[in-house]
Amino acid sequence: MAKMKSVTPTETEPLRAVIRRLSETLSSQLQAHQTRVFPPTAKKSIRPFTPSEVAKLLGLAEGYLRTVVSELEARPDNDFSPATGPGNRRVYTVEDVAQLRKLLDESTRGSRGARRYVQNRKAGEDLQIVAAMNFKGGSGKTTTAAHLAQYLALRGYRVLAIDLDPQASLSALFGTQPELDVGENDTIYGAIRYDDERRPVRDVIRNTYIPGLNLIPGNIELMEFEHDTPKALMNRRSDEPIFFARIESVIGEVEDDYDVVVIDCPPQLGFLTMSALTAATSLVITVHPQMLDVMSMNQFLAMTSDLLDEIASVGAADRNNWMRFLITRFEPTDGPQNQMVALLRSMFNEHVMVNSMLKSTAISDAGLTNQTLYEVERGQFTRTTYDRALESMNNVNSEIESLIKQVWGRP
Ligand SMILES: Nc1ncnc2c1ncn2[C@@H]1O[C@H](COP(=O)(O)OP(=O)(O)O)[C@@H](O)[C@H]1O
Ligand SMILES: [Mg+2]
Repeated sequence: MAKMKSVTPTETEPLRAVIRRLSETLSSQLQAHQTRVFPPTAKKSIRPFTPSEVAKLLGLAEGYLRTVVSELEARPDNDFSPATGPGNRRVYTVEDVAQLRKLLDESTRGSRGARRYVQNRKAGEDLQIVAAMNFKGGSGKTTTAAHLAQYLALRGYRVLAIDLDPQASLSALFGTQPELDVGENDTIYGAIRYDDERRPVRDVIRNTYIPGLNLIPGNIELMEFEHDTPKALMNRRSDEPIFFARIESVIGEVEDDYDVVVIDCPPQLGFLTMSALTAATSLVITVHPQMLDVMSMNQFLAMTSDLLDEIASVGAADRNNWMRFLITRFEPTDGPQNQMVALLRSMFNEHVMVNSMLKSTAISDAGLTNQTLYEVERGQFTRTTYDRALESMNNVNSEIESLIKQVWGRP
């Protein structure tokens, strides 16, 4: 390895040059690391599902799933045939699950009181826009947003995930490398910018490897919105949406295509976050139950309420259906964390989610290779480690799904 130059500024190399050099070194090392763990040519995919998981995703009993699948396979015109894995057990790809959902829906359509397999919104059920927020980095926003978006798509909703963080870790988790795969004007910035380079939001929406899940990726260009907004405010054209209405306005262009939008916010209360706050119909505030994190969240809440007051004072509608605190990276055996959780629950009552996200190496290890729990192979982990993490994740996601269904008035 080449000998590194000293990091101390000298007369010949001023601090700014040192920082630039270190930044370039780090950047190329990170790029090399990324390429190693996830080569640009690698295609991401989701792991196959077991019959018991498929039964849960579809909301039916495993025995009934077996019956339905054999019936479908016996049909002369059948083109549905999930593969058989070890032990002669069925394994279902994510495409199999989507196809099965459609077939089940077709076979029960019209019969009264039938279970719904395809979850598309009906008239009177408004698009739900869920934002994961908190200005503490590392509180679990991206992990929460990524797993929620994937879970909802696997459950049969049409989901749009929006990466609003210039650091773009959500995009990376979804297999989109912010430096390589996302070009100029390919983020939501392209659709909300103030100048005439603006493009329709449809042009920045991508498919993912999960049926029903679309992505608007992020990268560093999102920062431009923070720089442009003060200037735009001074020369504002009254026929154009003000900055905090811009995300809501572009989501409106594709509203009919989705049931739920999930927004991963950056770790600060800038103009992007304010615009997400205005668009959101619900907030998930992720909080790690430790003193410093809770103190920082206190500031976040104070600033957020000031902002919402300001937004309300210029006449924006209050669209919030619910907000919940989600306890993240929770270690049930840690005394101080438990005290903090108890304190949060006693102060915020029903605003704290019943289910917490447990801390698990399955989640952090999966993250190292840009994967979610729904993507990593179970066999990579001790079974109990993986299953415990997945159970906790599914419980959190299912609680959020229930909140969404409550808004829609579904049972
Ligand atoms: N429940 C968890 N258990 C273990 N590690 C976690 C968990 N949730 C998040 N992490 C890890 O913590 C780090 C920060 O999480 P992240 O979701 O990126 O936070 P944020 O988006 O708020 O900055 C990531 O490396 C992630 O893999
Ligand atoms: Mg993040």
